[in-house]
Amino acid sequence: MKYSVELACDSSKAWLDTVMDDFGSFLQDHADCERKASAMAMSFVAKYPNRKEIIPELIETAIEELEHFQQVYNLMERKGIALPSEMQKDVYMQQLMALTHGGTPDTRFRDRLLMASIVECRGCERFKLVSEHIEDEELSRFYKVLWASEAKHGNIFVKMALKYFENKEVYDRLDELIQKEAEIVSALPLRPALH
Ligand SMILES: [Fe+2]
Ligand SMILES: [Fe+2]
Repeated sequence: MKYSVELACDSSKAWLDTVMDDFGSFLQDHADCERKASAMAMSFVAKYPNRKEIIPELIETAIEELEHFQQVYNLMERKGIALPSEMQKDVYMQQLMALTHGGTPDTRFRDRLLMASIVECRGCERFKLVSEHIEDEELSRFYKVLWASEAKHGNIFVKMALKYFENKEVYDRLDELIQKEAEIVSALPLRPALH
């Protein structure tokens, strides 16, 4: 078992600079991403109640993501940054999720799990960059703890897929999706946001 998904491209320095230049906006987007990550974990429970083997881990993941949301929210409160009333569309997620459409219910289930792992790994990679480059020590520590947590999530969705699909099928499809994610992430317009 691979410890984690290896992404096909690194995030750019231009992305990191954009985030560092407007960290308040980044925090607002980050909070929103954590809230959505929690909802996504629970959406697997809602969509696949018969996949009982993975439900406990999905619930646990949803709780952890909600805790991340709480932590970012508390941090924003201390800094006097409000939750945004409106969020821009997350083009990255829209394009990635479009890749999971079509096929059979089984392959959609497989692809959704694999995509969840890739998204977690991209979050992990980007939080690590933030933790290494931000000057504020409290924020640096905060993002260090977070990237370790997201690294664990990057692994668990692949592990879930392996409970239901053959190794070769999982890793072949994972490689395809990783390549596509690299194309998508490289083409995104720069925003002070996680994606
Ligand atoms: Fe998270
Ligand atoms: Fe996560």
